[in-house]
Amino acid sequence: MNIAVVGTGYVGLVGGTCFAEMGNQVICVDIDESKVAKLQSGTVTIYEPGLEVYFDRGIRENRLSFTTDLAEALEPADVVFLALPTPPAEDGSADLQYVLGVADDIGKLLAANPDWGYKVLVDKSTVPVGTARRVIEAVEAHGLKAGEHFDVVSNPEFLREGVAVEDFMKPERVVIGTDSERAGEIMTRLYEPFVRSGNPIIVMDEESAEMTKYAANSLLATKITFMNEIANLCDLVGADVDKVRRGIGTDSRIGSKFLYAGIGFGGSCFPKDVQALHRTAREEGYEFRMLQAVLDVNDDQKTVLVPRITAALGGEDLTGKTIGIWGLAFKPHTDDVREAPAHVVIRELVARGASVQAFDPEAVETTQAAFEHTPLEGPGSLTYSESAYAAASGADALVVATEWPEFRRPDLDRVRESMKQPLVFDGRNVFDSKRMAELGFTYSSIGRPSYEAATVERGATA
Ligand code: UDX
Repeated sequence: MNIAVVGTGYVGLVGGTCFAEMGNQVICVDIDESKVAKLQSGTVTIYEPGLEVYFDRGIRENRLSFTTDLAEALEPADVVFLALPTPPAEDGSADLQYVLGVADDIGKLLAANPDWGYKVLVDKSTVPVGTARRVIEAVEAHGLKAGEHFDVVSNPEFLREGVAVEDFMKPERVVIGTDSERAGEIMTRLYEPFVRSGNPIIVMDEESAEMTKYAANSLLATKITFMNEIANLCDLVGADVDKVRRGIGTDSRIGSKFLYAGIGFGGSCFPKDVQALHRTAREEGYEFRMLQAVLDVNDDQKTVLVPRITAALGGEDLTGKTIGIWGLAFKPHTDDVREAPAHVVIRELVARGASVQAFDPEAVETTQAAFEHTPLEGPGSLTYSESAYAAASGADALVVATEWPEFRRPDLDRVRESMKQPLVFDGRNVFDSKRMAELGFTYSSIGRPSYEAATVERGATA
């Protein structure tokens, strides 16, 4: 099939590349000339495991190409994916200017070129319920008719960063929202090779498809937040959230996934989507109280370690204290730092005068860009370390903010020896509490009991 993908951000680039891998002919469009130039020269512009192999193959075998010219991509396309940004506007609602702007451009081009034939336009971005209708209106404004010249389909993506290629190639389900039988059939044909294992393609109306995406992300964010509150309570009553997780996760109605307590969820999707669904409800005159609670609890959860750190280091003023941070990305296997809990922790520590030294295997550049955009405030400082060990070296305390695999089994004797004080605050529960105490650390994690640190002489191995 011939496919156009408008927008070469995260979703567009992964989607376009994977469609090409499945044998389709794909042209990706973006208005960002420097990005398109990079992609044309064979450089993958995002970090996503497994993407490069398919990307290189798509280009080499001429199934994948990039352009800044919408017309060039639109003309041959049977299906046109809109994978455009929908950033939250001031009021928390999703800003649709890019999606509707491109719909307008497409309408103009299709009206001027009737010989280009019928097109299926697909909303791939996460858009508020009702957007498919607005896209139809924007295209019809050019004298075209839905059902005859084009149809609009809502096809939400459920990609997780870090495993996006796998998620795209083998989705647990594909949701297709359209009232048009013709568009439904084309989309089903396009996706059939991706669900050969028998996973379902679920066809429904546009509004339900749009709602499915918000409901999925909001429920997952709620699940995490619920466990974070259970963890906070475990801390108070002396229970262990890891044991509770195993205890409840074996109930198939609950399921064992997404029950890991920590310093809150981040990323580009959960915070934005929970906020947008809350906003949609409010616009309809309905107060979605649970979602407000999820947002509030998650905000607080990001700083749950800060009072523990100040208490351990002798008070609110952290001047003269060095704090190591392991992890900057909002989760492992990505360089994405949007809404990253690590950043919130760093802001709090710098505001109190601490010298923060941070390490992340992938997310230093993105962090630098984020703090250039919204500078850190306060008397403290932030520097970047070359390795996890370097970030711990000379530190009064070490904070684990992202559970990169390499943080799970470091040489902890070496870490302890290099630190000024053996204080570890684990925001992702990557270490065993008892073992950390045996190794001589004063160790604090999320929702798990602490044990008294053993006395380990410097130079001795525990
Ligand atoms: C999410 C959805 O999973 C995906 O389906 C959707 O399309 C986009 O949003 P992503 O943002 O890549 O994907 O991250 P995900 O792996 O879902 O994690 C989100 C956040 O939740 C991370 O900050 C992660 O650290 C946190 N999390 C996840 C927890 O704190 N505990 C858990 O048990 C699981």
